[in-house]
Amino acid sequence: MRLLRFQCASEPQPVAIEVEDKLLRAILIEQGALTEYQAQQISDGRHKLNLGDYIITDFIGQGGMGHVFKAVHKFMGRECAVKTLPTGRVTPQTLEGFTREIRLQAKLDCSYLVRAYDAGLDGTTRYFVMEYVPGMDLRRLIKAKGPLPQDQAASIIMQAAYGLEYAHQQGMVHRDVKPGNILVTPEGIAKVSDVGLAAFTANLVDDPRAGKIVGTADYLSPEQIRSPLAVGPVSDVYSLGCTLYYTVCGKVPFPGGDTAHKLRRHLEETPIHPRRFAEKINEEFVDIIADMMDKDPNKRIQTCAEVAARLEPWAIDSSQITQPRMSRSPWSAPPPPSFGTDTQGGDESVQDASINSNDSIQSQRNILDNSRFSDSRGLSNDVLESLASYDGKASKNKTQASNAMMIGLTVAILLPPALLIGAIIGYLVAIK
Ligand SMILES: Nc1ncnc2c1ncn2[C@@H]1O[C@H](COP(=O)(O)OP(=O)(O)OP(=O)(O)O)[C@@H](O)[C@H]1O
Ligand SMILES: [Mg+2]
Repeated sequence: MRLLRFQCASEPQPVAIEVEDKLLRAILIEQGALTEYQAQQISDGRHKLNLGDYIITDFIGQGGMGHVFKAVHKFMGRECAVKTLPTGRVTPQTLEGFTREIRLQAKLDCSYLVRAYDAGLDGTTRYFVMEYVPGMDLRRLIKAKGPLPQDQAASIIMQAAYGLEYAHQQGMVHRDVKPGNILVTPEGIAKVSDVGLAAFTANLVDDPRAGKIVGTADYLSPEQIRSPLAVGPVSDVYSLGCTLYYTVCGKVPFPGGDTAHKLRRHLEETPIHPRRFAEKINEEFVDIIADMMDKDPNKRIQTCAEVAARLEPWAIDSSQITQPRMSRSPWSAPPPPSFGTDTQGGDESVQDASINSNDSIQSQRNILDNSRFSDSRGLSNDVLESLASYDGKASKNKTQASNAMMIGLTVAILLPPALLIGAIIGYLVAIK
């Protein structure tokens, strides 16, 4: 409970109103003065809600590099996504990687690639500002909704192929194509993110990561594993093929096992036939996946333009790609972002104990009409459930002591007194 005093023009004495912290918080959120995320941060005793001129409004997620927040530019009012490089992880190497990512993205301008807007330094926190893409990444989409039918998968991967083709035309290779790096809007528009892991193909030798494997084990091409210097656009075609496989099957091509095991299987094994998981996809579509995932880069589909052309006849109008309904922003994820924390993102792989290394795309092409294969679709809606349970936990741990003071302070800054009093009185009347 907090006593708030205001000076009204019509009253000689200040007006005092007692307001419960919870109520004040609800009013401020309803009035649009604070977002849920900001109110939670203040409740938890975190008072820094900006990075440079960007006001942080929500926590989006976390990857290998750092946290990603939703933000609004203080003056322009433009919504954007801000990626941070946590202070604890600033080494010459990570800094180099971060700067490289920013500069590479800044050069690209394509509606199928996430656009770079700005970059900056706030205290010791480096951040990168990019186009905010509403919706969710393909990995989350599949986890929430299950594997997609081939026409929807074709539409998303075709658009990603357009974006990658553009990047390739600029002399870049992405090198980390995976479902987590394809963002899908509620309208079904797909955009490739994190193009910054790319290096100019022409300058691979100057790249500090040259000679090291870059990418995510579940989607790495055989040539990337054997000889990272030999990476080219066709390596992205392989990773995009693995991504298409995941999109229709709900499983990565080589699930289970550790990284070394996965790498060996990319080199030596062929994955389980996709129709084992997605019986409705037809054989010609399976051929496209197989042609994208050929282990021999010379036999593989050579360009993303060709990938897009092969997928186009199968693709539906992207607006028909519906996303699961959420009771709130899909990005209103678990809170914990203090800008300096150092935590790692989760692994991409989906565990599947039923793997059988003898089941291959090639070997099963002719026997798939056999009814012994069961459809293993039906991934649980675990993302949504885990978000809900996290919120439950988080709300228990509020530090009440500093709440009222901080909220009061924020109110004083953000709202004119007359508006605030009107809001409080209006709210109190409304809830009576
Ligand atoms: N521009 C953006 N707009 C909206 N959401 C985004 C944007 N960029 C990233 N995200 C989301 O933020 C989360 C973290 O992204 P990030 O790129 O840091 O991690 P990742 O792609 O999972 O892993 P990696 O670090 O290997 O790329 C993901 O859920 C991603 O979908
Ligand atoms: Mg990413």
